Amino acid sequence: MNPLIVANWKCNPESLKEAKVLLGKIIKGADGFGGAEIVICPPSIFISSLVEKGPVKFGVQNCFWEDKGAFTGEISVKMIEDIGCEYVIVGHSERRKMGETNEKINLKIKKILESKITPILCIGETLEEREEGMAFEVLEEQVKRCLDKISKEKAKRVVLAYEPIWAIGTGNFADAKKIEEVRIFLEKILVGKYDKKTAESIKIIYGGSVDSSNISAYLVGAEMDGVLVGGSSLKADEFLKSIKSAKAE
Ligand code: PGA
Repeated sequence: MNPLIVANWKCNPESLKEAKVLLGKIIKGADGFGGAEIVICPPSIFISSLVEKGPVKFGVQNCFWEDKGAFTGEISVKMIEDIGCEYVIVGHSERRKMGETNEKINLKIKKILESKITPILCIGETLEEREEGMAFEVLEEQVKRCLDKISKEKAKRVVLAYEPIWAIGTGNFADAKKIEEVRIFLEKILVGKYDKKTAESIKIIYGGSVDSSNISAYLVGAEMDGVLVGGSSLKADEFLKSIKSAKAE
């Protein structure tokens, strides 16, 4: 299967001008993309100035579960779809830290799945939880609660992003063996919640200090279906190098 490579730009870069330059460089280098599916998730305020038809797809980093109304500061799934985005990241640990609960994430995913947009559901344990041997319990709870009352037909369209919090933005390269263990565990949870066929349709990707030096350890070694790249996706050359390494495998 061709890997899914998602760039999460977070709250970067500082200006639309810089965002256009970064995207331009990525698109220019896109000749070598081969089969990889590339999704760029810039800050929402820049999106409509960046979206264009071409070798990359676009996503946003958050959304709201109502279509419209008196919800200051929120962006609806309809708006996201209307400007041509195909993906939404939901439940990133940086948002969970700001108060996003599994229940709110569940509402968002249900709303997204009413549209054609693909939700990228982020889950992950803290270092403390891992050290206390709680990682699997935490992940199971996140999966079950975030996907609560979502039918198998709809669940098939979800992308599950395993992002251990201790590996995000830290340069701590997680051992691919540990990541593989989690992938196998998540597949088991999904088979239990749904069935084998549904579980096989749900892509499981990895995020946490991914760059060109370790991408193949996760895609090939841990057999992940893709990666979610933060910091290193802000450097066009490095990001293109990661894509090329992924393609070479
Ligand atoms: P990172 O971020 O690649 O900078 O660790 C990944 C993410 O938070 O999605």
